[in-house]
Amino acid sequence: MIHQFDTVIVGSGGAGLYAALEASQQSKTAVLSKLYPIRSHTGAAQGGISAALGNVEEDKAEWHAFDTVKGGDYLVDQQAAQILAEEAIQAVYDLENRGLPFNRTPEGRIDQRRFGGHTRNFGEGSVRRSCYAADRTGHMILQTLYQQCIKNNVTFFDEFQVVDLLLDGGTCSGVVVVELATGEIHIFVAKAVLFATGGFGRMFKTTSNAYANTGDGPAVCARRGIPLEDMEFFQFHPTGIMGLGILISEAVRGEGGILRNRDGERFMEIYSPTLLDLAPRDIVSRAIITEIRAGRGIRGDRKIDDYLHLDATHLGKDLLRSKLPDISSFCQTYLGIDPADSPIPVLPTAHYAMGGIPTDVHGRVIGDAKGTIVNGLYAAGECACISVHGANRLGTNSLLDLVVFGRRAGKHIVDYVKQADPVTPGKDAGADARAWIAGLTDRQAGPHGGAIAEEMQTTMMEKVGIYRNETDMQAAIDNIQSLRERYRSVRVQDTGKSFNTDLLEIIELGSLLDLSLITAASALARKESRGAHSREDFPERNDETWLKHSLAFLEKDTVRLDYKDVDTSIWKPKPRTY
Ligand code: FUM
Repeated sequence: MIHQFDTVIVGSGGAGLYAALEASQQSKTAVLSKLYPIRSHTGAAQGGISAALGNVEEDKAEWHAFDTVKGGDYLVDQQAAQILAEEAIQAVYDLENRGLPFNRTPEGRIDQRRFGGHTRNFGEGSVRRSCYAADRTGHMILQTLYQQCIKNNVTFFDEFQVVDLLLDGGTCSGVVVVELATGEIHIFVAKAVLFATGGFGRMFKTTSNAYANTGDGPAVCARRGIPLEDMEFFQFHPTGIMGLGILISEAVRGEGGILRNRDGERFMEIYSPTLLDLAPRDIVSRAIITEIRAGRGIRGDRKIDDYLHLDATHLGKDLLRSKLPDISSFCQTYLGIDPADSPIPVLPTAHYAMGGIPTDVHGRVIGDAKGTIVNGLYAAGECACISVHGANRLGTNSLLDLVVFGRRAGKHIVDYVKQADPVTPGKDAGADARAWIAGLTDRQAGPHGGAIAEEMQTTMMEKVGIYRNETDMQAAIDNIQSLRERYRSVRVQDTGKSFNTDLLEIIELGSLLDLSLITAASALARKESRGAHSREDFPERNDETWLKHSLAFLEKDTVRLDYKDVDTSIWKPKPRTY
């Protein structure tokens, strides 16, 4: 079946919905999602959205931009960070005006709390910059934007899985998708396509990411020759529930929670004397692993599972119930404890991809190191790399990124579709996807995807995790390559057409395998430590050689790397201390 729209948005999290809201004002817009929109992973973002409102103490957008650049270990494009911080303020008030129920100060203003790496006056101490709706901020953003999209008559195609991108020369003309209810292939023809498919933390064994976070957008782009930027930078959030990876928001520390080792010591005093538990995530995650390696972790029941404690017992039941209700209930459900009475057992969990599809500040996809724009193709949100997060994202800057750059992309699309020529995909549009899916479903024998997925996740976790070295990463690449080889003969065992989730998972596994290979290859090539990329064999940051963005091209079974400059036009890179 063929559908014709001006604009097609793939993904219905915060970035996709905000872009749809803008684009739909003046162009016929469809949103495709493999989920129902309000189940998108934006809904799992807990602690807040940053903006220098200065509602509870002095704050400035300039300080916010600087923190973002320093937090990203100077790999951030600085003009983009400035846009992020400056437009944050209006973005938060827009959300408020659209109905988002933020927590309030006694005077009725939007309340703000502390978060890692956000400081006053260029690093003097923590500042209250995160606007929040209890610990359900992402959930509230999704609800707010979805109802606005419905009001604006955006057309939603729920439970449609993207499998290919239509690119003719340097121009995009649509996408190919599978309708999960029927198994039918649909072609969506559009002058503008925006990918907002979210992250891909499911490549790791322990992750805060939902099952749906499989990087379909970046994988589809990579297979069509679009490079992926800075893929070596993957953030581990310091506080996942031990053994499960489910997120315990940084807002717990923002409200005063303290990380402690087996001796009850507040060990962050050693690693970050100024910001303590609210240092950026890369620093806190490494500190946790260092403590455990030094024998100061707490023994788990199974003797091999060391972990640390996040102590919120001193915050009191009232604060925990009113400001962190979801966290309190997760602790009850998954650990059988009340955080008001017992410390929470935590370990770092794979959380956020700083890298992704390269874009400019309007969300336009960039096809090479020279900055060539791919006409009609846009990306926003976690699947994109603008780059405002550089080598390490600050907490609460991700919801902000979705809103600011989702909206900017939507606005640019409106102008683009007005002047763009009509697009007509070739006669064979969708043929590659049809042949691929027929291969998966018609095969009579072959391995199942489950074992391949498990091995990929263990490999990435153990060999391309928080600490990395050449031997491990080379072993990971070799293993991922052999898993990709096995994947070529994988077989979908469910022979039905309707809601064939076996097929869906195998399509998703293909995305994760490609992105794992690109991540590991980009990481192996970068011979320095910067932000979340921490190499035991190259422990120092090396600005002379490595102050540059990587661009990884997937060329059949190899990854070719190119590099482009970082915009350091505002602040000169300095050693990062907190
Ligand atoms: O800790 C958190 O609430 C996560 C926020 C974020 O990743 O920005």
